[in-house]
Amino acid sequence: MGQTLEEWLKTLKENDLLHVVNHEVSIHQVAKIVSDNYAKATLIQKIEGYDMRLAANTASNRKMIALALNVDEDQVVQELDRRCERRVPPVVVDDAPCKQVVKTGDEVDLTEFPLHLQHELDAAPYITASVAVARDPHLGVYNLGIYRLMLRTHNETGVDVTAPHKLRAYYRNALEMGKPLQVAVVVGLPTIDLLGAEMSAPFDVDEYEVLGGIRGEPVELVRCETMDLLVPANAEIVLECEMPPIGWSRDEGPYGEFTGTYGALKMNPVLRVKAITHRSNPIFLSATHGGRKPGWTDLHLLFPIIELDLYRSLRQAGIDVRGVRLHPGGCGMWAIASIRQRAVGDSKTALALLLTSSRQAFPKYAVVVDDDINIYDDEDVIWAMTFRSQPSEDAVILKDLKAIPLDPSLSTEREHVSTSKMGFDATVPLEAAKERFERCMPVERPPSSFKAEASDEEVLEMLEKPRYFGEMALNYSGHAYRQFLKVLGRLRETGVVARDNLGRYVRAVK
Ligand SMILES: Cc1cc2nc3c(=O)[nH]c(=O)nc-3n(C[C@H](O)[C@H](O)[C@H](O)COP(=O)(O)O)c2cc1C
Repeated sequence: MGQTLEEWLKTLKENDLLHVVNHEVSIHQVAKIVSDNYAKATLIQKIEGYDMRLAANTASNRKMIALALNVDEDQVVQELDRRCERRVPPVVVDDAPCKQVVKTGDEVDLTEFPLHLQHELDAAPYITASVAVARDPHLGVYNLGIYRLMLRTHNETGVDVTAPHKLRAYYRNALEMGKPLQVAVVVGLPTIDLLGAEMSAPFDVDEYEVLGGIRGEPVELVRCETMDLLVPANAEIVLECEMPPIGWSRDEGPYGEFTGTYGALKMNPVLRVKAITHRSNPIFLSATHGGRKPGWTDLHLLFPIIELDLYRSLRQAGIDVRGVRLHPGGCGMWAIASIRQRAVGDSKTALALLLTSSRQAFPKYAVVVDDDINIYDDEDVIWAMTFRSQPSEDAVILKDLKAIPLDPSLSTEREHVSTSKMGFDATVPLEAAKERFERCMPVERPPSSFKAEASDEEVLEMLEKPRYFGEMALNYSGHAYRQFLKVLGRLRETGVVARDNLGRYVRAVK
C-alpha cells in the first residue's frame, strides 16, 4: 500500500526528528508548540474537543527530505534526478483504510478536523497539507499538487490556485464549459508522497506514474465514493470536492506565507466538500508556512524540486556542477552551487542559469563556488565570497526577471511586477595564480613509517627538486625530526640550501 503517515512518523521518531506531545492541549496552543519545536516534526496526541491526533512540520528540513529518499543530505538532488527518470504506473485496489469512515451529505463537517489558526492575522484556519488530485479534462491524466484551503463554512473552503499550475488550467476549462471541476483533497500522506505530489511533470504525463517513480513502487489507488477520481490508498483522510464554476469571486486570505510575511486578501475560487472519508483513527496533517523560523517549514518540499531544475540546467549547459543547495535562511531565495570550472565563463554562466532557469522564479540570489567549498557549511561559503570575489568584478545584477509576487520588497507601483536578481561569483578565476588562493590547512600526516635519522646527504637528495618545508619535515618524527631541523638550519647557514620565490627550499646555485 505504500508507507503510511503513521509509519513515517515512526521513522522520524527513530531518527530523533519527532517531538511528541502526550498531554492534552488547546487548539490555540498548536501553532506555538509546532513553531517552538521547529527543528523537528510534531505529533500532538490529544487536542481538547477533538477526537483526532495532529501531526505537523513533517518535511521541514533537509534531514527529513534525505531520510524520505534514504540518502545522505548532499545526495538529495542526484537521487531525485535518478528517481524522476522512472515512470511506475499505479494499480487500482478495491478497498483501503481511508474508507473505514464514510460521511456524505449532511454528515460532512470540516470542523471535525483540528483546524488551528497558524498565524496571528490569518483570515481563518487553513487545511494546509492538502494534496489536490484532479484530472486533465482532455487527456485524463492525473495532476497532484499541494494547495492551501481556507475554511469558509463546515463544507466549503477557499482555494488559492496560482499560475502556472495545471489545476488552474483545468479549472479554467471547466469554467468555460460552466461545469464544476471534480477535485479530491488528500490529507495525511508521508513526506515521500508529498514530495512526489510537488513534482511538476509535463502536461501529458500522469503524475501518479511520477509518484510511483519517486516511491520506487506502484501507487495503490482507490476509487472515490461520489466522483470518478482515484486517490492514494495510504491516505489518512480524503475530501471529495468540486470547484463550482463561480470563478475568482470569493475572498480568501490574508495568510502567513512562505516568505514569513502575509499575502494579500484575494478573490479566489472555492471547494465544496461532497464527502469525507477517513481511517477509523486518522492523523490530521498540517503543513507549516512562514512563522518565526520560515526556513524550517514544509517549504522544504519545494527545495529539492527547484534544486533539481537548477542542477539539470547547469548540466545541460555543459557545466560540471557538483552540488546545488537552496538555503533555508532566505526561504529558498538563495541558491549556492559548487562547480568544477572547465572553461573561462563557466562560473558566470552558472550564475545566470541559477538566477533564471527554475520554473518557480526561485532563487533571487545565487552564489557559485569551487568544489573544494562545502555548500552546506555557511562559513565556508561566506569565506569564499569574501576572499575569492571582488564585488566590482564578480557581482552580477539582472533586472526585469520573473518574480515571486509574494516578495514584499517588490515595487507596488506596477500591476505586473518583475524582480531584479543578484549573483556572486566566488570561484577562483581559472587564469589566476593558484598559490594566492591556496588554503592553509592544518598539517595532517597519517602516522606511518618515519625515517630513523636525518643527514645532510638525505636532505640534499630530497632537494633534487624544490620542496616545501613540510614535504621534507613530515618524513621525520621525534628525535629524527629535531635532527632534521638542525640539518636544514646548518645547510641554510652555510649557503648550501636557499629558497625560491614560492618559498620552497632549493639547492643553492654556486
Ligand atoms: C506546503 C506547500 C503549500 C503550497 N500551497 C500552494 C497554494 O496554496 N497555491 C499554489 O498555487 N501553490 C501552492 N504550492 C505549490 C504547488 O503545490 C506546487 O507548485 C505544485 O507542484 C503545483 O503542481 P503542478 O506544477 O503539477 O501544477 C504549495 C507548495 C507547498 C510545498
